[in-house]
Amino acid sequence: MGLHKVILLSDPHIVSGGELRYGIDPAKRLQATVDFINAFHGDADLCILLGDLVQEGRHDQYSRLKEITGQLTMEVQFIMGNHDDRDVFIQIFDPAVAGDGFVQQELMLGSTALLLLDTMNPGHVSGAYCRQRRRWLEDRLDRSPASQFLVFMHHPPFPVHVPKLDHKGLDPEDAQWLHAALSRGAKPVRHVLFGHIHRNIAVNWNGLTASSVRNTAHQRARDLNDDGTRFWHGPPCLGVLYIHDDRTLLQMQDIIIDSDGRPQAPVEELMC
Ligand SMILES: [Fe+2]
Repeated sequence: MGLHKVILLSDPHIVSGGELRYGIDPAKRLQATVDFINAFHGDADLCILLGDLVQEGRHDQYSRLKEITGQLTMEVQFIMGNHDDRDVFIQIFDPAVAGDGFVQQELMLGSTALLLLDTMNPGHVSGAYCRQRRRWLEDRLDRSPASQFLVFMHHPPFPVHVPKLDHKGLDPEDAQWLHAALSRGAKPVRHVLFGHIHRNIAVNWNGLTASSVRNTAHQRARDLNDDGTRFWHGPPCLGVLYIHDDRTLLQMQDIIIDSDGRPQAPVEELMC
């Protein structure tokens, strides 16, 4: 019981040292974000990264990610995205839970169960949720001692009005199964959090609340011909997820980075 706070980061796409991605070094942006979190959100219970942790699934890229996220003063957990490599991730991070070869786990915060799903489908941009993974989720939904659930996954289980990605989310049949599984229990699923799109998105998914957090690396631009093919470099974003016994609340926070690569801090007290 009581209030818990979780920081959400999405799609950092860490590249190898000396490389750039769309003209930026994603590691520098993640470093500034980590510095900001430690300075202003050190009271959080947990930080979760919503997949596409690195660009090409390389050992050196995961090592860079580990060096940066290891500076966070709170527990950190990760989920798999389409740019990730499960085997390499497991080698570098040695996660405590990698049952059946999938990076899935249930974390308890008070009476809330956080279910971290693995929707990765190797060789595909789109995601999948096979029978093996379904069995794990059904078991957790049926047997968990929690009074409520939160679900974290990389691929959105619905189209999001971004044509380039609307056929590259979770497989539609798997998404249909997932919605039924999350809706049938007596214990509520308060929120579904996803990545992949590189935008802030809020959705009512046939009764379930779902949100994505804009990422820390290159971001999906919006224009009149919004097909999702162009990128820009807005400020990195983090999500602050407040978990109450009867509700969740998600605040989005941009990180303004100065010319020295440091996150800008609040400087004045608002009078209203
Ligand atoms: Fe991504």
